[in-house]
Amino acid sequence: MQRMHEYAPILILGAIIGTVTAVFLTVYLCLQRKKQLEVFDRQLPDRVVIRRLLRYAKPYWARFLLAFFVMLGSIVYDLLSPLLVGSIEKLVAEQFELEQLWRLVAAYAGILLVSVVCTYLQAVILQKTGQKILSDIRLELFAHIESLSHAQLNNNPVGKLVTRVTNDTNSISFLFTNILVTLAKNVLVILGVLGAMLLLNYALTLMILCFVPFLVLFTVIFRKFSRKAHRRVSDATADVNTYLSEHLSGMKIIQIFNQEDNKMAAFLRRSQAMEKAKVGRLFVFGIFRPMVYMLNISCVLCLFYLGGKGYLRQTEFLGQTITANVVVSFYMYISKFFNPIQHLAEQFDMLQKAFASAEKIFAIMDLPPEVVDEPDAMELESIRGEIEFKDVWFAYKPDVWVLKGVSFKVEARQTVAFVGSTGSGKTTILSLLCRNYDIQKGQILVDGIDIRHIKIASLRRHFGQMLQDVFLFAGDIRSNILLHKQAITDDEVMQACRYVNADSFISKLPKGLDEPVRERGNNFSAGQRQLLSFARTIIHKPSVMILDEATANIDTETELLIQDSLEKLKSIGTMLIVAHRLSTIQHADNIIVLSGGRIAEQGTYQALLHQKGRYYRLYTLQFHKEQLK
Ligand SMILES: Nc1ncnc2c1ncn2[C@@H]1O[C@H](COP(=O)(O)OP(=O)(O)O)[C@@H](O)[C@H]1O
Ligand SMILES: [Mg+2]
Repeated sequence: MQRMHEYAPILILGAIIGTVTAVFLTVYLCLQRKKQLEVFDRQLPDRVVIRRLLRYAKPYWARFLLAFFVMLGSIVYDLLSPLLVGSIEKLVAEQFELEQLWRLVAAYAGILLVSVVCTYLQAVILQKTGQKILSDIRLELFAHIESLSHAQLNNNPVGKLVTRVTNDTNSISFLFTNILVTLAKNVLVILGVLGAMLLLNYALTLMILCFVPFLVLFTVIFRKFSRKAHRRVSDATADVNTYLSEHLSGMKIIQIFNQEDNKMAAFLRRSQAMEKAKVGRLFVFGIFRPMVYMLNISCVLCLFYLGGKGYLRQTEFLGQTITANVVVSFYMYISKFFNPIQHLAEQFDMLQKAFASAEKIFAIMDLPPEVVDEPDAMELESIRGEIEFKDVWFAYKPDVWVLKGVSFKVEARQTVAFVGSTGSGKTTILSLLCRNYDIQKGQILVDGIDIRHIKIASLRRHFGQMLQDVFLFAGDIRSNILLHKQAITDDEVMQACRYVNADSFISKLPKGLDEPVRERGNNFSAGQRQLLSFARTIIHKPSVMILDEATANIDTETELLIQDSLEKLKSIGTMLIVAHRLSTIQHADNIIVLSGGRIAEQGTYQALLHQKGRYYRLYTLQFHKEQLK
């Protein structure tokens, strides 16, 4: 009865913790009934993801091993410092010797220093290695995206690909720089502390272990809530990001149509949703951490209670005497025991997030490139520029035929024009020629060779494409014309510019070829961009030139320049033109009129006018329009 009375405070504490746990459990079980939200959509099992991720770490195994050993050095402090402080307490309480005290303090300072240095080294090694691994992954991903066909690129919006290369690789970085080693460290610290405590006083250790089931319970419940909270935050963030990227690109349209207020309100809603989600997550953490702290403090209170009794009256607890220095050491061990467990619980979500990101990256990497070289594809040093389509059938989407049996032949150095209404398949024909897509039926021949037997890089080298929307990269004029082609002097560049009449505006620029080009080249007019793209094509010396509505949307003055350069370009090689202005194509050797994916008629300008068919109607329509102007 007397003993029962002594342990009453511990019983009361146990009752309080038990009640709190019961309340939590009830709430948890009630919420459990609600439909479970799947946090991360995962396809691959964890072990597959881990195995693939570890493949990237493999070349750096020596560094990880080093980091591991350095980490062991930093653990020494966690394990030894409570013992040292305990010894200091004992020394102070019993036969005090200054020299002995100095020795202990020096030892403490020593292991503290070792631990600090080790922690620093570990961080440096891991960060460096992690960044190297990330760089490897980013490079592999980028190279893979480069190998994707146009169809695959159409299916993966740019925003998504950017997120894969930047955000998702970042979440993985956390895995290599932090989780891998802290996970190992926390497990080792927990085991080490447990071992040290058992050696010191098994009875008190048993008392501490009584708290562990509660800790595990809290952790499991916390994990459920934190997963949901993380999911909400990541959804809300993605929502805000998508909205931002879309509306920032379209800001000019928003301003023109006076939609600022509407769009602002819509953005506010998304921003507030994000705020709510983040506060919600803080709330989850805000409950979990104090709960763990409560257990921690309760444990310390029990220790003090038992220790206090023992110190005053030398009583035993489960047969072991508790001395003051044991109390001190245990006091320190308890927090070193609880902290890693809390960290492990909190890091588990980061781990899940990293796995989810890794899986998304692997999904892109696993897309097999659709348009690939055949094993025995040939290299073409030069081509004459003969092109033939033989009964070509092509569909972007299964069974929606865009080209239905197109056949035509272009002799070397001829100029052929394609006309037809929007959507009749002109761009598609030009795109197939460079093997941006593979055709389903028929054959496309270049110099009599099926293009599927030619190496893609070798094929595209001989084609120069000039499209309606010219893409300029941020940089300067020179880099945009050269596109990394080296060993070309400024004279040659200017010569090319002169050839396409781009020299007159370039020489007026303050810095000439060094004039900066802003993102997408929006500091140049459409006509100037067009002329630059001509120069870019010429410098690469193509044998076949492709112009897809390259002359649309251009002022009359620039058009004259472009007409003139087109005439010169014709002498370089074969030329395939799509142009809306029929005057541009008057001198073509052959005009192919497309309608609904078939060739409606073909012939020279004069012949087609004589025929009084589709082309004649197009021509008279446009002629009248010009007259009306
Ligand atoms: N990337 C694509 N995916 C699916 N369909 C496409 C794609 N590009 C074009 N199309 C379709 O193919 C048809 C022909 O397009 P296109 O060759 O661009 O016509 P044109 O250049 O003559 O105006 C159109 O009906 C268009 O909707
Ligand atoms: Mg087109």
